[in-house]
Amino acid sequence: MAERFYERAYCPGDETAVMEVELECFADAWPLSFFISETIAEGRFHRLLIEAATERVAAYLLSAWQYLDLHVLNLGVRKEFRRKGLARRLMRRAEEEMLRQGGESIILEVRESNQPARRLYLGLGFEEIGCRAGYYGDGENAVVMQKHSEKWVSDAETW
Ligand SMILES: CC(C)(COP(=O)(O)OP(=O)(O)OC[C@H]1O[C@@H](n2cnc3c(N)ncnc32)[C@H](O)[C@@H]1OP(=O)(O)O)[C@@H](O)C(=O)NCCC(=O)NCCS
Repeated sequence: MAERFYERAYCPGDETAVMEVELECFADAWPLSFFISETIAEGRFHRLLIEAATERVAAYLLSAWQYLDLHVLNLGVRKEFRRKGLARRLMRRAEEEMLRQGGESIILEVRESNQPARRLYLGLGFEEIGCRAGYYGDGENAVVMQKHSEKWVSDAETW
């Protein structure tokens, strides 16, 4: 049976569709100009999950290399497609890419209050390694989470 969602790269022309999902996900959405510039930025790993039947963007992950760390910039899933494992699937793709490129870790910031996302990352083996006080525009703190490549290798057997 054909898969309901397929994965592909984020390309020029996708920015409006991704922005639509971003607006559904975040009260403090990044501006469209960010999504346009990210389609051509260097040192990135950006992936989309597309609903095959409709060709709509169901979920997206934007990440950028910072030396040997792959930094997750943004991750969002349309409300109607949540709790179907799409975010986990995109994060695992990012982890695979990080390993393939010889990276050392995946790192990200998440709002302290964002329990769904924190549970997602903890479930994938990320650790909470610190806090950035007042990181977000409204003053909320960010929890910094990281997963090292050797941890991923030991987890792989349980996939
Ligand atoms: C957080 C978010 C990306 C999760 O996407 P998702 O596709 O629904 O997540 P998944 O289905 O892959 O869930 C994987 C695991 O994460 C945890 N999780 C996800 N959503 C959860 C929720 N609402 N409550 C509790 N745990 C949750 C669970 O452990 C889940 O595993 P399970 O379904 O087997 O119990 C999604 O809710 C979203 O887009 N939120 C708004 C944007 C956002 O917060 N992005 C992250 C910024 S750091």
